[in-house]
Amino acid sequence: MKKNIILMGPPGAGKGTLAKQLKDALHLVHISTGDMFRDAIKAQTELGKLAQSYIDHGDLVPDEVTIGLVKERLSQKDCEAGFLLDGFPRTLPQAEALSEIAKSISREIDVVVNLDCDVDELVRRISGRRVCKNCGAPYHVITMKPKVEGVCDLCGGPLYQRKDDNEDALKVRLTHYEEETKPLLDYYQKLGLLASFNSLVGKENLFDEVSSFLKK
Ligand code: AP5
Repeated sequence: MKKNIILMGPPGAGKGTLAKQLKDALHLVHISTGDMFRDAIKAQTELGKLAQSYIDHGDLVPDEVTIGLVKERLSQKDCEAGFLLDGFPRTLPQAEALSEIAKSISREIDVVVNLDCDVDELVRRISGRRVCKNCGAPYHVITMKPKVEGVCDLCGGPLYQRKDDNEDALKVRLTHYEEETKPLLDYYQKLGLLASFNSLVGKENLFDEVSSFLKK
């Protein structure tokens, strides 16, 4: 089984949704840099204040900050069981740093799962996304409604719209993706680690396809 996994794809491709399904099914640790920054913002820590100034506009948090955060998290004991990196790496310096970190802690990357999705669908998904304030579970106002409007099915927490899920921030996020993150697909292709999946097949079909692939 492949157990040290990077999930890649543009904003809204479904990385967080898939990661939450896979972590339960395959007993892996879910490491989302976006969630880590949002937690820090909620707690108003120094990291949170710094991250907020970038995230609200759709910009990337500086590499040195993000790399330090991931290095510390990946070194923790629970990651021995395997991990899903969601939203990291996003730049070439982050990818190069990750190779070094993974080598130094003997937890090398087994595979990079890339989710393909067209821009019109990304815009539809991001503009309709709602997220649970307590547990971070993602919903959509049309395609993934909760049983009770505005309430998380899993923990009963309130649903909200992320501050960076607006048209202006999304344009900036998509540009960062095209210019800085998409080139990493070539980088991982050359290392023989890339596996791409079409994220338009629906949440459950995508989960079935990716989980069967990871179990091989
Ligand atoms: P982050 O939280 O990582 O945001 P993102 O990459 O833009 O990804 P999203 O969370 O928007 O989308 P997703 O692919 O997880 O989709 P989701 O599953 O929610 O990062 C936020 C910010 O933090 C960045 O902009 C940056 O500022 C900073 N940051 C984070 N990491 C960083 C790094 N490494 N370096 C520097 N800065 C960093 O799904 C979206 C919607 O679609 C939902 O409504 C969902 O219900 C629906 N949906 C999901 N899957 C499907 C499906 N298969 N079919 C139909 N609908 C689906």
